[in-house]
Amino acid sequence: MANSWKSNDTAGQTARLPRHIAIIMDGNGRWATQRGLPRTVGHKAGAETFRRIATHCKNLGVEYLTVYAFSTENWKRSADEVGALMGLLKRYLQEAVDTMEKDHIRLRFFGDMTPISPELRALAHETDEISTHLPPGDFQANVCLNYGGRDEILRAVRRFGADCVSGARKPEELSEALFSSYLDSRGIPDPELIIRPSGELRLSNFLLWQCAYSEFYVTDTLWPDFDEAQLDRAIAEYQQRDRRFGGVKK
Ligand code: FPP
Repeated sequence: MANSWKSNDTAGQTARLPRHIAIIMDGNGRWATQRGLPRTVGHKAGAETFRRIATHCKNLGVEYLTVYAFSTENWKRSADEVGALMGLLKRYLQEAVDTMEKDHIRLRFFGDMTPISPELRALAHETDEISTHLPPGDFQANVCLNYGGRDEILRAVRRFGADCVSGARKPEELSEALFSSYLDSRGIPDPELIIRPSGELRLSNFLLWQCAYSEFYVTDTLWPDFDEAQLDRAIAEYQQRDRRFGGVKK
């Protein structure tokens, strides 16, 4: 396997393996249309790519992989397409219930699960439960489902406001760290690297709070064609970036 990030493996480079990679899995529809196939076939291929890339991240030693599976805006798609996406997620969770313990993969959901079907919610609850029994050092996949960055921030503000009303918190206590603890991503470091396949140059309401200092990697490759070598290239490019966090180079 071509691990280009390992090919010149100085201590510094290994140390710069991102702990958390986030991916906007875009281009499934175009991939299918180019082949004269229904869009849903593209999503099925995209779900396979997710499985392969999650395994690769885990093998490399990346701790967290966050993927955008269904946004708060994706309900606007046809009932067929929404149903197909929910079906793929259900199949993935059914498999995960049987395999995540053996494979040491923890799963977590970001997003408002209220409008999600009771069956899918029950499966998500089951995978949450299994995850709590796995060691915290195990690889974790975060699946964004009915997720929007603005919605996540609003839900966090509502919860913090409710805590202020109940007297559990005071408005003047609020810091970036405390606010982060109200987000779906609580306890997880911000993603160092955000990848967007399919050539679009926008964030599409993904991890708006968490992306403050993330490095972006975009590629024209459509998500179903994204592979392990492409992930290695994204990591290698990330390792060349000069991250200053608003400071100056020492
Ligand atoms: C964006 O491509 C992709 C989505 C809205 C869905 C992503 C979902 C999956 C890959 C499958 C389920 C996930 C898991 C974790 C099993 P698009 O349809 O907007 O593509 P287009 O821009 O080419 O039309």
